[in-house]
Amino acid sequence: MRFRLRGLRHAFWLAALGCSSPDPTPRAVVPEDAGDGCHFPAPVPAFTERPLDMPPAAARRPAPRTIELDLTAAPTLMEYLPGHSTPAFAYNGTVPGPVIEARVGDRLVVHLTNHLAEATTIHWHGVHLPPEMDGTTLLRDPVWPGESFTYSFVLSSAGLYWYHPHLHESRQIERGLYGTLIVREDDGVTAPERLMMIQDLLLDANGALLPDEAILVDANGAARTNSVHTMEMMGRDGNVVAINGRVAPILHVRAGTWERWRIVNPSVARYYALRLDGHTFVQIGTDGGLLERPIMNADVLLTPGERVDLLVYFGAPAGTRVTLRSGQYSRRRYTGGNTSIDIAQVQYDDTPAPATPPPLPAPARLRTIEKLDTSSRPRSFILRESIQGGTTGHGGHGGVASDCTAALPYPGLYVFSINDELYPDVTPVRAALGETQVWDVINQSSGDHPFHVHGFQFQPVTVAGYAAPLQWKDTINVPYGRTVRIAVRFDDFAGPFLYHCHIVQHGAGGRMMGELRVSRPD
Ligand code: C2O
Ligand code: CU
Repeated sequence: MRFRLRGLRHAFWLAALGCSSPDPTPRAVVPEDAGDGCHFPAPVPAFTERPLDMPPAAARRPAPRTIELDLTAAPTLMEYLPGHSTPAFAYNGTVPGPVIEARVGDRLVVHLTNHLAEATTIHWHGVHLPPEMDGTTLLRDPVWPGESFTYSFVLSSAGLYWYHPHLHESRQIERGLYGTLIVREDDGVTAPERLMMIQDLLLDANGALLPDEAILVDANGAARTNSVHTMEMMGRDGNVVAINGRVAPILHVRAGTWERWRIVNPSVARYYALRLDGHTFVQIGTDGGLLERPIMNADVLLTPGERVDLLVYFGAPAGTRVTLRSGQYSRRRYTGGNTSIDIAQVQYDDTPAPATPPPLPAPARLRTIEKLDTSSRPRSFILRESIQGGTTGHGGHGGVASDCTAALPYPGLYVFSINDELYPDVTPVRAALGETQVWDVINQSSGDHPFHVHGFQFQPVTVAGYAAPLQWKDTINVPYGRTVRIAVRFDDFAGPFLYHCHIVQHGAGGRMMGELRVSRPD
Protein backbone atom coordinates (compact mmCIF):
# COMPACT_ATOMS: atom_id res chain seq x y z
CA MET A 1 0.00 0.00 0.00
CA ARG A 2 2.70 2.48 1.01
CA PHE A 3 4.71 1.73 -2.10
CA ARG A 4 1.67 2.13 -4.31
CA LEU A 5 0.89 5.47 -2.76
CA ARG A 6 4.32 6.87 -3.53
CA GLY A 7 3.86 5.84 -7.14
CA LEU A 8 0.44 7.41 -7.17
CA ARG A 9 1.70 10.64 -5.73
CA HIS A 10 4.04 10.93 -8.70
CA ALA A 11 1.22 10.19 -11.13
CA PHE A 12 -0.87 12.81 -9.41
CA TRP A 13 1.63 15.53 -9.88
CA LEU A 14 1.86 14.73 -13.55
CA ALA A 15 -1.91 14.72 -13.79
CA ALA A 16 -2.20 17.96 -11.87
CA LEU A 17 0.29 19.67 -14.16
CA GLY A 18 -1.47 18.32 -17.22
CA CYS A 19 -4.83 19.57 -16.00
CA SER A 20 -3.73 23.13 -15.59
CA SER A 21 -3.09 23.79 -19.28
CA PRO A 22 -6.09 25.57 -20.82
CA ASP A 23 -8.03 23.49 -23.29
CA PRO A 24 -11.10 24.68 -25.20
CA THR A 25 -12.54 21.16 -25.76
CA PRO A 26 -15.59 20.48 -23.59
CA ARG A 27 -14.72 17.74 -21.17
CA ALA A 28 -16.33 15.59 -18.55
CA VAL A 29 -14.56 17.35 -15.74
CA VAL A 30 -15.42 16.44 -12.23
CA PRO A 31 -13.80 19.12 -10.11
CA GLU A 32 -14.35 17.12 -6.96
CA ASP A 33 -14.35 19.31 -3.95
CA ALA A 34 -13.97 17.51 -0.65
CA GLY A 35 -15.83 20.30 1.07
CA ASP A 36 -12.93 22.63 1.63
CA GLY A 37 -11.41 23.14 -1.77
CA CYS A 38 -9.51 19.82 -1.69
CA HIS A 39 -10.07 17.54 -4.65
CA PHE A 40 -8.67 14.68 -6.64
CA PRO A 41 -7.16 15.85 -9.91
CA ALA A 42 -9.67 14.41 -12.32
CA PRO A 43 -8.76 12.55 -15.49
CA VAL A 44 -10.65 14.53 -18.09
CA PRO A 45 -11.68 12.65 -21.24
CA ALA A 46 -13.41 14.68 -23.95
CA PHE A 47 -17.03 13.88 -24.90
CA THR A 48 -17.07 11.34 -27.70
CA GLU A 49 -19.44 9.10 -29.59
CA ARG A 50 -19.94 5.93 -27.58
CA PRO A 51 -22.76 3.46 -27.93
CA LEU A 52 -24.59 3.27 -24.63
CA ASP A 53 -26.34 -0.02 -25.23
CA MET A 54 -26.18 -2.67 -22.54
CA PRO A 55 -26.38 -6.35 -23.48
CA PRO A 56 -29.66 -8.12 -22.83
CA ALA A 57 -29.39 -11.18 -20.60
CA ALA A 58 -29.27 -14.44 -22.56
CA ALA A 59 -32.36 -15.80 -20.85
CA ARG A 60 -33.96 -19.21 -21.29
CA ARG A 61 -37.64 -19.90 -20.88
CA PRO A 62 -37.69 -23.45 -19.52
CA ALA A 63 -41.35 -23.17 -18.55
CA PRO A 64 -44.13 -20.68 -19.15
CA ARG A 65 -43.66 -17.65 -16.92
CA THR A 66 -40.10 -18.63 -15.97
CA ILE A 67 -36.94 -16.80 -16.99
CA GLU A 68 -33.66 -18.51 -16.30
CA LEU A 69 -30.14 -17.21 -16.82
CA ASP A 70 -26.54 -17.51 -15.68
CA LEU A 71 -24.47 -14.72 -14.20
CA THR A 72 -20.76 -15.21 -13.67
CA ALA A 73 -18.91 -12.66 -11.56
CA ALA A 74 -15.28 -12.42 -12.68
CA PRO A 75 -12.44 -9.95 -13.08
CA THR A 76 -12.24 -8.07 -16.36
CA LEU A 77 -10.67 -4.93 -17.82
CA MET A 78 -12.64 -1.80 -18.68
CA GLU A 79 -11.56 1.20 -20.72
CA TYR A 80 -13.05 4.19 -18.90
CA LEU A 81 -10.24 6.55 -19.92
CA PRO A 82 -9.17 6.32 -23.56
CA GLY A 83 -6.06 4.18 -23.94
CA HIS A 84 -6.00 3.04 -20.31
CA SER A 85 -7.40 -0.13 -18.90
CA THR A 86 -9.04 -0.30 -15.50
CA PRO A 87 -9.08 -3.59 -13.59
CA ALA A 88 -12.74 -4.22 -12.97
CA PHE A 89 -15.25 -6.88 -11.94
CA ALA A 90 -18.12 -7.82 -14.22
CA TYR A 91 -21.16 -10.06 -14.53
CA ASN A 92 -20.76 -12.01 -17.79
CA GLY A 93 -17.91 -9.76 -18.85
CA THR A 94 -19.76 -6.47 -19.14
CA VAL A 95 -20.17 -3.37 -16.95
CA PRO A 96 -23.04 -2.87 -16.29
CA GLY A 97 -24.11 -6.51 -16.24
CA PRO A 98 -26.77 -7.89 -18.59
CA VAL A 99 -30.20 -6.25 -18.64
CA ILE A 100 -32.73 -8.70 -17.23
CA GLU A 101 -36.25 -8.16 -18.56
CA ALA A 102 -39.32 -9.92 -17.30
CA ARG A 103 -43.09 -9.51 -17.00
CA VAL A 104 -45.02 -9.22 -13.76
CA GLY A 105 -45.69 -12.70 -12.45
CA ASP A 106 -42.61 -14.30 -14.01
CA ARG A 107 -40.34 -16.43 -11.88
CA LEU A 108 -36.71 -15.33 -12.20
CA VAL A 109 -34.07 -18.03 -11.80
CA VAL A 110 -30.45 -16.85 -11.75
CA HIS A 111 -27.47 -19.15 -11.38
CA LEU A 112 -24.63 -17.07 -9.95
CA THR A 113 -21.11 -18.45 -10.31
CA ASN A 114 -18.31 -16.72 -8.47
CA HIS A 115 -15.04 -16.53 -10.39
CA LEU A 116 -13.70 -13.72 -8.22
CA ALA A 117 -10.97 -14.26 -5.65
CA GLU A 118 -13.36 -13.10 -2.93
CA ALA A 119 -16.85 -13.99 -1.71
CA THR A 120 -19.87 -12.29 -3.20
CA THR A 121 -23.70 -12.37 -3.29
CA ILE A 122 -26.43 -10.77 -5.36
CA HIS A 123 -28.94 -8.45 -3.72
CA TRP A 124 -32.03 -7.74 -5.84
CA HIS A 125 -32.46 -4.12 -4.87
CA GLY A 126 -36.12 -3.16 -4.50
CA VAL A 127 -37.60 -6.57 -5.24
CA HIS A 128 -40.25 -8.01 -2.91
CA LEU A 129 -38.87 -11.49 -2.24
CA PRO A 130 -38.16 -14.12 0.41
CA PRO A 131 -35.26 -13.20 2.73
CA GLU A 132 -33.17 -16.23 1.73
CA MET A 133 -33.12 -14.92 -1.87
CA ASP A 134 -32.22 -11.37 -0.87
CA GLY A 135 -28.44 -11.68 -1.08
CA THR A 136 -27.71 -10.80 2.51
CA THR A 137 -25.74 -13.09 4.78
CA LEU A 138 -28.39 -13.11 7.51
CA LEU A 139 -29.65 -16.56 6.54
CA ARG A 140 -26.96 -18.09 4.40
CA ASP A 141 -23.29 -18.00 3.60
CA PRO A 142 -22.02 -15.81 0.82
CA VAL A 143 -21.03 -17.45 -2.46
CA TRP A 144 -17.37 -18.33 -1.99
CA PRO A 145 -14.81 -18.20 -4.82
CA GLY A 146 -15.43 -21.07 -7.25
CA GLU A 147 -18.92 -21.73 -5.91
CA SER A 148 -22.41 -21.20 -7.30
CA PHE A 149 -25.80 -20.31 -5.93
CA THR A 150 -29.23 -20.22 -7.53
CA TYR A 151 -31.58 -17.33 -6.79
CA SER A 152 -35.22 -18.03 -7.57
CA PHE A 153 -38.23 -15.82 -6.86
CA VAL A 154 -41.40 -14.45 -8.43
CA LEU A 155 -41.45 -10.86 -9.67
CA SER A 156 -44.68 -9.48 -8.26
CA SER A 157 -44.67 -5.85 -9.35
CA ALA A 158 -43.61 -3.77 -12.30
CA GLY A 159 -40.68 -1.41 -11.95
CA LEU A 160 -37.03 -0.79 -12.59
CA TYR A 161 -34.92 -2.69 -10.09
CA TRP A 162 -31.21 -3.36 -10.00
CA TYR A 163 -28.86 -6.01 -8.75
CA HIS A 164 -25.54 -5.75 -6.93
CA PRO A 165 -23.44 -7.65 -4.36
CA HIS A 166 -24.26 -7.31 -0.69
CA LEU A 167 -20.72 -7.97 0.45
CA HIS A 168 -17.68 -5.70 0.08
CA GLU A 169 -20.13 -3.34 -1.65
CA SER A 170 -17.79 -0.39 -1.85
CA ARG A 171 -15.20 -2.31 -3.85
CA GLN A 172 -17.43 -4.74 -5.73
CA ILE A 173 -20.04 -2.23 -6.92
CA GLU A 174 -17.57 0.47 -7.91
CA ARG A 175 -15.58 -2.17 -9.79
CA GLY A 176 -18.58 -2.96 -11.93
CA LEU A 177 -20.86 -5.54 -10.30
CA TYR A 178 -24.26 -3.99 -10.98
CA GLY A 179 -27.01 -4.38 -13.54
CA THR A 180 -30.69 -3.66 -14.16
CA LEU A 181 -33.79 -5.79 -13.76
CA ILE A 182 -36.85 -4.41 -15.54
CA VAL A 183 -40.21 -5.88 -14.68
CA ARG A 184 -42.85 -4.86 -17.19
CA GLU A 185 -46.58 -4.72 -17.47
CA ASP A 186 -48.63 -2.83 -20.05
CA ASP A 187 -48.37 0.75 -18.87
CA GLY A 188 -49.57 2.82 -21.83
CA VAL A 189 -46.25 4.67 -22.12
CA THR A 190 -45.31 4.73 -25.79
CA ALA A 191 -42.04 6.70 -25.99
CA PRO A 192 -38.85 4.87 -26.99
CA GLU A 193 -36.87 3.92 -23.92
CA ARG A 194 -33.30 4.65 -22.88
CA LEU A 195 -31.94 2.79 -19.89
CA MET A 196 -29.08 4.49 -18.05
CA MET A 197 -26.97 3.49 -15.07
CA ILE A 198 -25.03 6.56 -13.96
CA GLN A 199 -21.99 5.64 -11.89
CA ASP A 200 -18.98 7.59 -10.72
CA LEU A 201 -15.52 6.12 -10.23
CA LEU A 202 -12.45 7.40 -8.45
CA LEU A 203 -9.62 6.93 -10.95
CA ASP A 204 -6.05 8.05 -11.29
CA ALA A 205 -4.76 9.49 -14.56
CA ASN A 206 -3.87 5.98 -15.77
CA GLY A 207 -7.34 4.61 -15.20
CA ALA A 208 -6.55 2.65 -12.02
CA LEU A 209 -9.08 2.84 -9.19
CA LEU A 210 -7.61 4.94 -6.42
CA PRO A 211 -7.35 3.36 -3.00
CA ASP A 212 -9.42 4.94 -0.24
CA GLU A 213 -6.23 6.40 1.10
CA ALA A 214 -5.00 8.59 -1.70
CA ILE A 215 -3.65 12.00 -2.36
CA LEU A 216 -5.80 15.11 -2.67
CA VAL A 217 -4.74 18.39 -4.17
CA ASP A 218 -5.90 21.53 -2.38
CA ALA A 219 -7.38 24.66 -3.92
CA ASN A 220 -3.86 25.98 -4.56
CA GLY A 221 -2.70 22.77 -6.22
CA ALA A 222 -0.59 21.63 -3.29
CA ALA A 223 -0.64 17.91 -2.45
CA ARG A 224 -2.47 16.93 0.71
CA THR A 225 -3.40 13.54 1.95
CA ASN A 226 -6.84 12.13 2.04
CA SER A 227 -7.51 9.16 4.20
CA VAL A 228 -9.70 6.18 4.78
CA HIS A 229 -11.16 8.42 7.47
CA THR A 230 -12.37 10.94 4.91
CA MET A 231 -13.95 8.21 2.80
CA GLU A 232 -15.81 6.91 5.83
CA MET A 233 -17.14 10.33 6.61
CA MET A 234 -17.87 11.59 3.16
CA GLY A 235 -18.52 8.44 1.23
CA ARG A 236 -16.35 7.61 -1.73
CA ASP A 237 -17.29 10.14 -4.39
CA GLY A 238 -15.56 9.54 -7.70
CA ASN A 239 -13.92 11.93 -10.12
CA VAL A 240 -15.28 10.60 -13.41
CA VAL A 241 -18.87 9.70 -14.27
CA ALA A 242 -19.87 6.87 -16.59
CA ILE A 243 -23.24 6.15 -18.19
CA ASN A 244 -23.59 2.43 -18.80
CA GLY A 245 -19.84 2.07 -18.30
CA ARG A 246 -18.86 4.78 -20.82
CA VAL A 247 -17.32 8.04 -19.62
CA ALA A 248 -18.26 11.33 -21.35
CA PRO A 249 -20.65 9.99 -23.98
CA ILE A 250 -22.67 11.89 -26.58
CA LEU A 251 -26.34 10.86 -26.86
CA HIS A 252 -28.19 11.40 -30.13
CA VAL A 253 -31.79 12.59 -30.18
CA ARG A 254 -34.26 13.96 -32.73
CA ALA A 255 -36.04 17.32 -32.49
CA GLY A 256 -39.77 17.11 -31.79
CA THR A 257 -39.67 13.67 -30.16
CA TRP A 258 -40.22 12.29 -26.69
CA GLU A 259 -37.96 9.73 -25.03
CA ARG A 260 -38.44 7.73 -21.87
CA TRP A 261 -35.32 7.80 -19.70
CA ARG A 262 -35.15 5.16 -16.99
CA ILE A 263 -32.19 5.91 -14.76
CA VAL A 264 -30.48 4.00 -11.94
CA ASN A 265 -27.86 5.42 -9.59
CA PRO A 266 -25.54 2.54 -8.69
CA SER A 267 -22.84 4.93 -7.40
CA VAL A 268 -21.47 4.05 -3.99
CA ALA A 269 -21.91 7.56 -2.58
CA ARG A 270 -22.64 10.24 -5.18
CA TYR A 271 -25.92 12.12 -5.40
CA TYR A 272 -26.92 13.42 -8.83
CA ALA A 273 -29.11 16.50 -9.24
CA LEU A 274 -29.87 15.68 -12.87
CA ARG A 275 -30.60 18.53 -15.22
CA LEU A 276 -30.70 18.75 -18.99
CA ASP A 277 -30.05 22.36 -19.89
CA GLY A 278 -33.09 24.05 -21.41
CA HIS A 279 -35.29 20.97 -20.99
CA THR A 280 -37.84 19.81 -18.46
CA PHE A 281 -38.20 16.32 -17.08
CA VAL A 282 -41.67 14.86 -16.76
CA GLN A 283 -41.30 12.31 -13.99
CA ILE A 284 -43.63 9.34 -14.40
CA GLY A 285 -42.08 6.81 -12.07
CA THR A 286 -39.73 6.07 -9.23
CA ASP A 287 -38.23 3.02 -7.46
CA GLY A 288 -41.41 0.95 -7.28
CA GLY A 289 -42.89 1.74 -10.68
CA LEU A 290 -45.17 4.48 -11.99
CA LEU A 291 -46.49 7.43 -10.01
CA GLU A 292 -50.23 8.15 -10.13
CA ARG A 293 -49.73 11.27 -12.25
CA PRO A 294 -46.79 12.80 -14.10
CA ILE A 295 -44.83 15.51 -12.24
CA MET A 296 -42.91 18.26 -14.07
CA ASN A 297 -39.40 18.81 -12.77
CA ALA A 298 -36.54 21.07 -13.80
CA ASP A 299 -34.14 18.70 -12.12
CA VAL A 300 -34.31 15.37 -10.39
CA LEU A 301 -32.33 14.28 -7.35
CA LEU A 302 -31.10 10.71 -7.58
CA THR A 303 -29.35 9.30 -4.52
CA PRO A 304 -27.35 6.06 -4.48
CA GLY A 305 -29.73 3.13 -5.02
CA GLU A 306 -32.64 5.21 -6.34
CA ARG A 307 -34.27 4.97 -9.77
CA VAL A 308 -36.29 7.44 -11.75
CA ASP A 309 -38.57 7.09 -14.80
CA LEU A 310 -38.70 10.27 -16.91
CA LEU A 311 -40.21 11.54 -20.13
CA VAL A 312 -38.12 14.12 -21.94
CA TYR A 313 -39.32 16.23 -24.86
CA PHE A 314 -36.68 17.45 -27.29
CA GLY A 315 -38.13 20.82 -28.23
CA ALA A 316 -34.96 22.67 -29.26
CA PRO A 317 -34.08 23.25 -32.93
CA ALA A 318 -32.40 20.51 -35.00
CA GLY A 319 -28.63 20.48 -34.53
CA THR A 320 -28.76 21.74 -30.91
CA ARG A 321 -26.24 20.36 -28.45
CA VAL A 322 -26.95 20.52 -24.72
CA THR A 323 -25.33 19.13 -21.59
CA LEU A 324 -26.77 16.57 -19.22
CA ARG A 325 -25.33 17.55 -15.88
CA SER A 326 -25.54 16.98 -12.20
CA GLY A 327 -26.16 20.44 -10.78
CA GLN A 328 -25.13 21.66 -7.40
CA TYR A 329 -26.50 19.69 -4.51
CA SER A 330 -24.86 19.68 -1.13
CA ARG A 331 -25.52 16.72 1.09
CA ARG A 332 -23.63 18.74 3.69
CA ARG A 333 -20.83 17.30 5.71
CA TYR A 334 -20.54 14.22 3.56
CA THR A 335 -19.65 15.69 0.29
CA GLY A 336 -17.83 17.89 -1.85
CA GLY A 337 -20.39 17.16 -4.51
CA ASN A 338 -21.70 20.69 -4.42
CA THR A 339 -20.03 21.44 -7.71
CA SER A 340 -21.75 20.93 -11.06
CA ILE A 341 -20.61 17.92 -13.14
CA ASP A 342 -21.05 17.46 -16.87
CA ILE A 343 -22.16 13.87 -17.44
CA ALA A 344 -23.03 13.66 -21.13
CA GLN A 345 -23.85 15.75 -24.14
CA VAL A 346 -27.12 15.44 -25.96
CA GLN A 347 -26.84 16.10 -29.69
CA TYR A 348 -29.93 16.76 -31.80
CA ASP A 349 -29.65 15.42 -35.33
CA ASP A 350 -30.46 17.56 -38.37
CA THR A 351 -34.07 16.47 -38.82
CA PRO A 352 -36.38 19.42 -38.12
CA ALA A 353 -39.19 19.02 -35.63
CA PRO A 354 -42.77 18.49 -36.91
CA ALA A 355 -44.99 21.60 -36.90
CA THR A 356 -47.23 20.31 -34.12
CA PRO A 357 -45.50 18.85 -31.07
CA PRO A 358 -46.69 15.33 -30.24
CA PRO A 359 -48.72 14.89 -27.04
CA LEU A 360 -47.35 13.37 -23.84
CA PRO A 361 -46.74 9.71 -24.72
CA ALA A 362 -48.37 8.49 -21.53
CA PRO A 363 -51.82 8.47 -19.95
CA ALA A 364 -52.58 11.52 -17.76
CA ARG A 365 -53.50 9.12 -15.00
CA LEU A 366 -50.70 6.58 -14.93
CA ARG A 367 -52.12 4.21 -12.35
CA THR A 368 -53.94 4.00 -9.05
CA ILE A 369 -51.87 3.29 -5.97
CA GLU A 370 -53.50 1.83 -2.92
CA LYS A 371 -52.74 4.12 0.00
CA LEU A 372 -51.32 2.35 3.05
CA ASP A 373 -52.88 2.86 6.45
CA THR A 374 -50.84 5.43 8.37
CA SER A 375 -52.69 5.30 11.67
CA SER A 376 -50.26 3.22 13.72
CA ARG A 377 -48.00 4.98 16.21
CA PRO A 378 -44.74 5.93 14.46
CA ARG A 379 -41.49 4.25 15.43
CA SER A 380 -38.38 6.39 15.48
CA PHE A 381 -35.18 5.64 13.58
CA ILE A 382 -32.68 8.30 14.62
CA LEU A 383 -29.68 8.71 12.34
CA ARG A 384 -26.52 9.98 14.00
CA GLU A 385 -22.77 9.96 13.54
CA SER A 386 -20.05 9.65 16.12
CA ILE A 387 -16.36 9.14 16.54
CA GLN A 388 -14.80 5.91 17.71
CA GLY A 389 -11.26 5.63 19.01
CA GLY A 390 -8.73 8.28 19.86
CA THR A 391 -7.11 11.06 17.93
CA THR A 392 -4.95 8.58 16.05
CA GLY A 393 -7.72 6.33 14.76
CA HIS A 394 -7.07 4.43 11.58
CA GLY A 395 -7.49 7.61 9.66
CA GLY A 396 -3.88 8.47 10.56
CA HIS A 397 -1.54 9.08 7.69
CA GLY A 398 2.07 9.07 8.73
CA GLY A 399 2.38 12.62 9.96
CA VAL A 400 1.84 14.23 6.56
CA ALA A 401 0.31 17.68 6.92
CA SER A 402 -3.31 17.47 5.92
CA ASP A 403 -5.42 20.55 5.51
CA CYS A 404 -7.98 18.47 3.69
CA THR A 405 -8.70 16.10 6.55
CA ALA A 406 -8.28 18.85 9.14
CA ALA A 407 -11.50 20.27 7.74
CA LEU A 408 -13.29 17.42 9.49
CA PRO A 409 -14.30 18.35 13.02
CA TYR A 410 -12.44 15.56 14.83
CA PRO A 411 -9.75 13.07 13.99
CA GLY A 412 -10.81 9.47 14.65
CA LEU A 413 -12.93 6.78 13.09
CA TYR A 414 -16.37 7.82 11.98
CA VAL A 415 -19.29 5.53 12.63
CA PHE A 416 -22.93 6.06 11.81
CA SER A 417 -25.70 4.79 14.01
CA ILE A 418 -29.43 4.17 13.91
CA ASN A 419 -31.05 4.66 17.32
CA ASP A 420 -27.53 4.80 18.76
CA GLU A 421 -26.79 1.21 17.74
CA LEU A 422 -24.01 0.09 15.42
CA TYR A 423 -24.53 -2.83 13.07
CA PRO A 424 -24.22 -5.75 13.73
CA ASP A 425 -24.78 -4.96 17.44
CA VAL A 426 -28.41 -4.03 16.91
CA THR A 427 -31.80 -4.83 18.38
CA PRO A 428 -33.95 -6.11 15.50
CA VAL A 429 -37.11 -4.19 14.69
CA ARG A 430 -40.03 -6.59 14.84
CA ALA A 431 -43.10 -6.79 12.66
CA ALA A 432 -45.89 -9.31 12.30
CA LEU A 433 -46.54 -10.69 8.84
CA GLY A 434 -49.15 -8.48 7.20
CA GLU A 435 -48.68 -5.60 9.63
CA THR A 436 -48.43 -1.99 8.44
CA GLN A 437 -45.98 0.21 10.33
CA VAL A 438 -45.16 3.90 10.22
CA TRP A 439 -41.47 4.80 10.53
CA ASP A 440 -40.06 8.22 11.31
CA VAL A 441 -36.53 8.38 9.98
CA ILE A 442 -35.04 11.30 11.87
CA ASN A 443 -31.75 12.68 10.64
CA GLN A 444 -29.79 14.18 13.51
CA SER A 445 -26.43 13.81 11.82
CA SER A 446 -24.54 16.43 9.87
CA GLY A 447 -25.41 15.34 6.33
CA ASP A 448 -28.02 13.59 4.16
CA HIS A 449 -28.48 9.80 4.11
CA PRO A 450 -30.33 7.70 1.49
CA PHE A 451 -32.38 5.25 3.60
CA HIS A 452 -33.05 1.85 2.00
CA VAL A 453 -35.34 -0.95 3.18
CA HIS A 454 -34.88 -4.49 1.83
CA GLY A 455 -37.70 -6.71 0.65
CA PHE A 456 -40.65 -4.32 0.99
CA GLN A 457 -41.57 -1.17 -0.93
CA PHE A 458 -42.75 1.68 1.28
CA GLN A 459 -44.79 4.86 0.80
CA PRO A 460 -43.30 8.18 1.85
CA VAL A 461 -45.94 9.97 3.95
CA THR A 462 -44.16 13.24 4.73
CA VAL A 463 -40.73 14.53 3.76
CA ALA A 464 -39.44 17.31 6.04
CA GLY A 465 -43.03 17.92 7.13
CA TYR A 466 -44.55 18.13 3.64
CA ALA A 467 -46.98 15.56 2.31
CA ALA A 468 -45.34 13.37 -0.32
CA PRO A 469 -47.10 12.31 -3.55
CA LEU A 470 -48.36 8.74 -3.40
CA GLN A 471 -45.63 6.42 -4.69
CA TRP A 472 -43.76 3.20 -3.96
CA LYS A 473 -40.13 3.52 -3.00
CA ASP A 474 -37.37 1.44 -1.45
CA THR A 475 -34.70 4.14 -1.09
CA ILE A 476 -35.33 7.72 -0.01
CA ASN A 477 -33.17 10.68 0.84
CA VAL A 478 -33.39 11.82 4.45
CA PRO A 479 -32.09 15.37 4.35
CA TYR A 480 -29.79 16.69 7.03
CA GLY A 481 -31.75 17.82 10.11
CA ARG A 482 -35.06 16.56 8.71
CA THR A 483 -37.50 13.73 9.22
CA VAL A 484 -38.97 11.45 6.58
CA ARG A 485 -42.07 9.49 7.56
CA ILE A 486 -42.77 6.30 5.64
CA ALA A 487 -45.46 3.63 5.79
CA VAL A 488 -44.60 0.02 5.04
CA ARG A 489 -46.65 -3.18 5.01
CA PHE A 490 -44.79 -6.41 5.73
CA ASP A 491 -46.64 -8.72 3.37
CA ASP A 492 -45.91 -12.25 2.21
CA PHE A 493 -42.40 -12.95 3.49
CA ALA A 494 -41.36 -13.70 7.05
CA GLY A 495 -37.76 -13.64 8.18
CA PRO A 496 -34.82 -11.27 8.63
CA PHE A 497 -34.23 -8.30 6.32
CA LEU A 498 -31.90 -5.31 6.42
CA TYR A 499 -32.39 -1.58 6.24
CA HIS A 500 -29.47 0.82 5.90
CA CYS A 501 -27.95 3.95 4.45
CA HIS A 502 -27.10 3.40 0.77
CA ILE A 503 -23.98 5.53 0.88
CA VAL A 504 -22.21 2.22 1.09
CA GLN A 505 -19.31 3.53 3.18
CA HIS A 506 -21.94 4.49 5.78
CA GLY A 507 -24.16 1.43 5.47
CA ALA A 508 -21.88 -1.54 5.20
CA GLY A 509 -18.63 -0.05 6.43
CA GLY A 510 -19.95 2.72 8.66
CA ARG A 511 -22.41 0.49 10.53
CA MET A 512 -25.54 2.51 9.67
CA MET A 513 -27.62 -0.61 9.20
CA GLY A 514 -30.39 -2.31 11.10
CA GLU A 515 -32.24 -5.61 11.06
CA LEU A 516 -35.93 -6.13 10.57
CA ARG A 517 -37.56 -9.40 11.64
CA VAL A 518 -40.93 -10.20 10.16
CA SER A 519 -42.58 -13.08 11.95
CA ARG A 520 -45.59 -15.27 11.32
CA PRO A 521 -48.25 -15.05 13.97
CA ASP A 522 -48.09 -18.36 15.91
CU1 C2O B 1 -28.89 -1.75 -2.81
CU2 C2O B 1 -28.80 -3.30 1.01
O1 C2O B 1 -28.79 -2.53 -0.84
CU1 CU C 1 -25.31 7.71 5.07
